[in-house]
Amino acid sequence: MYNGIENITICDHPLIKHKLSIIRNKATGTNEFRAIVEEISTMIGYEALRNLNLEYVEVETPIEKAMCPVIAGKKPAIVPILRAGLGMVEGLLTLIPTSRVGHIGMYRDEVTLEPHEYFCKLPSAIDQRSVFVLDPMLATGGSAVEAINFIKQHGGRDIYFLCIVAAPEGLEKLHSSHPDVKIFVGNLDRQLNENGYICPGLGDCGDRIFGTK
Ligand code: PRP
Ligand code: URA
Repeated sequence: MYNGIENITICDHPLIKHKLSIIRNKATGTNEFRAIVEEISTMIGYEALRNLNLEYVEVETPIEKAMCPVIAGKKPAIVPILRAGLGMVEGLLTLIPTSRVGHIGMYRDEVTLEPHEYFCKLPSAIDQRSVFVLDPMLATGGSAVEAINFIKQHGGRDIYFLCIVAAPEGLEKLHSSHPDVKIFVGNLDRQLNENGYICPGLGDCGDRIFGTK
């Protein structure tokens, strides 16, 4: 719950803050950056997966038969927004290794900051799965809003958006465009700068994960 809004969770955890400070440092190299993005993603994922429904099955323990809870329904779908969202996938698969994985390719025009979609492949029966959309950076919110529009057009209904760092502007835009989507943010940063980068942020997250540029 953030500012009275049920569907926004700012994780606000000391471990996440500590690890974020390491990857905020521009001297941190690709290898360590990638590993920490994955670790933080597991922590955010753990918070988000708290919402999964349970059903009861009979289990024979060494002592007796008992009705025990297991995750109900179809396997969840994990959908990273390319490229940077790829860096979060293993962090979520650590928690639910049987998840299905889809991909949405989006890039942001560096001048207009408008998102453009270039690829989409989603798991089947997306309407029957919890869908975890991953992108480390929620800046203007344009990419997240478009990606979720797309998932909804394909039938997605129970949608979560997980990011490592958000700007207030992007969080507001995503929530007002998709109030039904449950948003989990590792840390809420101060603001966007004139180039659409999050401050203090992480810089260009895709470039830092993949060692490009
Ligand atoms: C980054 C980031 C988000 C987007 C956020 O991707 O991974 O997808 O920007 O910005 P927004 O909220 O203003 O839309 P980018 O377009 O740089 O592509 P990349 O991941 O391929 O580097
Ligand atoms: N995309 C990034 O990778 N970083 C930002 O700060 C904003 C958008």
